[in-house]
Amino acid sequence: MPGVSAGSVIQRGPMKKTDPERPKLARLFAPYFAMLRPVKWPFVGVVVFGGINGALNGLGIPVLLFKFLPKVFSDTPPSRFLLAGVVLVFPVVALFRGLTAFLKDYLSAFCGVQVLISIRSRLYRKIQNLPLGFFGAMRVGDLMARIGGDASAVQVVVTNATADLVNQPIQFVGAIIALIYISIQRKEVVFILFALMIIPLCVFPIRHFGKQVKEKARRLQAGAGKLSTAINENLGAAREVRAFNLQALEERKFDDFMKVVAKFDLKKTKYLKILPQLIELVAAVSVAIGVWYAAKARLKVEDMIPLLAALYMTYGPIKKFGMVHNQIRQGEASVERIDQIMSLPDSVPDAVSPVPFDANETDIEFAGVEFEYAPGIPVLRGVNAQIPRGTVVALVGPSGAGKSTFVNLIPRFYDVVGGAIRIGGVDLRQFCKTDLRNHISIVSQDTVLFNDTIRNNIRLGRLDATDAEVEAAALNAFAHDFIAAFDEGYNTLVGERGTRLSGGQKQRIAIARAFLRNAPILILDEATSALDSESEEMVQKALVELVKRRTVFIIAHRFSTIKLANRIMVFEQGLLRASGTHAELYASDTLYKSLYDRQFIS
Ligand SMILES: Nc1ncnc2c1ncn2[C@@H]1O[C@H](COP(=O)(O)OP(=O)(O)OP(=O)(O)O)[C@@H](O)[C@H]1O
Ligand SMILES: [Mg+2]
Repeated sequence: MPGVSAGSVIQRGPMKKTDPERPKLARLFAPYFAMLRPVKWPFVGVVVFGGINGALNGLGIPVLLFKFLPKVFSDTPPSRFLLAGVVLVFPVVALFRGLTAFLKDYLSAFCGVQVLISIRSRLYRKIQNLPLGFFGAMRVGDLMARIGGDASAVQVVVTNATADLVNQPIQFVGAIIALIYISIQRKEVVFILFALMIIPLCVFPIRHFGKQVKEKARRLQAGAGKLSTAINENLGAAREVRAFNLQALEERKFDDFMKVVAKFDLKKTKYLKILPQLIELVAAVSVAIGVWYAAKARLKVEDMIPLLAALYMTYGPIKKFGMVHNQIRQGEASVERIDQIMSLPDSVPDAVSPVPFDANETDIEFAGVEFEYAPGIPVLRGVNAQIPRGTVVALVGPSGAGKSTFVNLIPRFYDVVGGAIRIGGVDLRQFCKTDLRNHISIVSQDTVLFNDTIRNNIRLGRLDATDAEVEAAALNAFAHDFIAAFDEGYNTLVGERGTRLSGGQKQRIAIARAFLRNAPILILDEATSALDSESEEMVQKALVELVKRRTVFIIAHRFSTIKLANRIMVFEQGLLRASGTHAELYASDTLYKSLYDRQFIS
């Protein structure tokens, strides 16, 4: 399916796309039109000035021509006064047309930026709160394309296209009225017929091209999503590209994606641009027929010009309508892409009436926990564990056994598929996620830093921490010395994703965050993996302090870190196969014994 690059998560959502019945345009765009509410007065201005402008074009110009031309070109020369009036009236009308057109366009742009902000912030808010599982299935670049190009296309429909839908019919009706009026005055009814006859002819290309534009726009936006994914991935993997000499491959990939985007952009442009020209051609044919008829009927030139002008004015709106129709179809493709995200269900929903988290009640219980990332592939199977408050648990086991999965269930990055996890006797799903996560610190293997100062990166642990508290946390994490060694100290910028710091330095920043957060539950997932033995020694010292008075989960391959634990859980293929102290497990569990021996007896 073009336009959807996500995997199972997206496809499981109740998507508009899979509806057998295409939702009516109005229903599709309704939530976006509601965004005009805060700018309703400027939008009323768009409609009013657009209406005046349309009336001036459609009715004003032909009627003016009709009224004044005969006077100027009659057999007796016009008086000076009349001539001056005629000469003045056209610039004055032009001034009003210009002024109303400008006001309409400016106010429309004003409403447009507000609507664009609303669409983007709604989408962004939704994305901020989507469960983590979503990001495994969705590509970042494609999300960026939805926030960028798709949001703009929808905004164009809501403001510009809507304004034209008001303005253009008024011009059209005005021109028809002018035609009728002039024809009745001059008894030239045939003109009306010409004007009206050709209109149905325009419907076919409008419909056909609109369909094409929507399809091409959908594929263009999907292509744009792939392109920005490729750029995003490439720029994020600058080291790998060089290490594995992937430049040529990456350039080829980039070129291919660009070609797809260019192809559909051109196709869309073809259909967008050909339509007004076709309508123009139809208009020219009808004007030609009009001239032919006027010549046959021996019409006077001053009668003919206003009639032809009115006739011509009816085609402006049709042409515009064709373009608006194209914009709407293009917007429709984008609305669908945005709605796919907006309609994703929250698979990790907040409780309706949440129980407040009690920081003094942090006994943790896993009761028959079943978990799978993808349906039918169990990752945790019937895990039972009682972890009393203040216990330091180490999770050991082969790679892929489910250790990280086990700890990721505690902050509800994912919800269990079967069984329950309780903290202080309360099912996790009864807490508010924000409240729960406020009481958990996580230090993981790949610490992500933001492109900001070291100080602000540590402060992410607790946003209201003072500078002194930040520095105390850094001291505790044995990070102060290396931070102080930088010229700019705590104000040193860490670079994008923290590239200016070493792996060990980043991990100590993460540990400083955990000190600052001071949460009763602490999760260390390979938190010391990037350290050399010297900094590991320092971090070990830091951890001894950090784990005090907390319920702690440590995943580490090094048994030196595991020594901090007073309880060890051994995982294998999603099962918790044994649990106890080092001495107990070494004596009773063969897997644990072999894991331990492999590290110390080689
Ligand atoms: N986001 C994910 N989506 C789908 N499957 C996943 C995801 N994360 C982990 N898995 C799968 O779940 C299983 C358990 O992974 P997990 O990361 O919990 O293992 P682990 O014990 O932490 O291993 P390691 O010691 O290598 O870190 C693995 O088979 C893995 O492929
Ligand atoms: Mg892991």
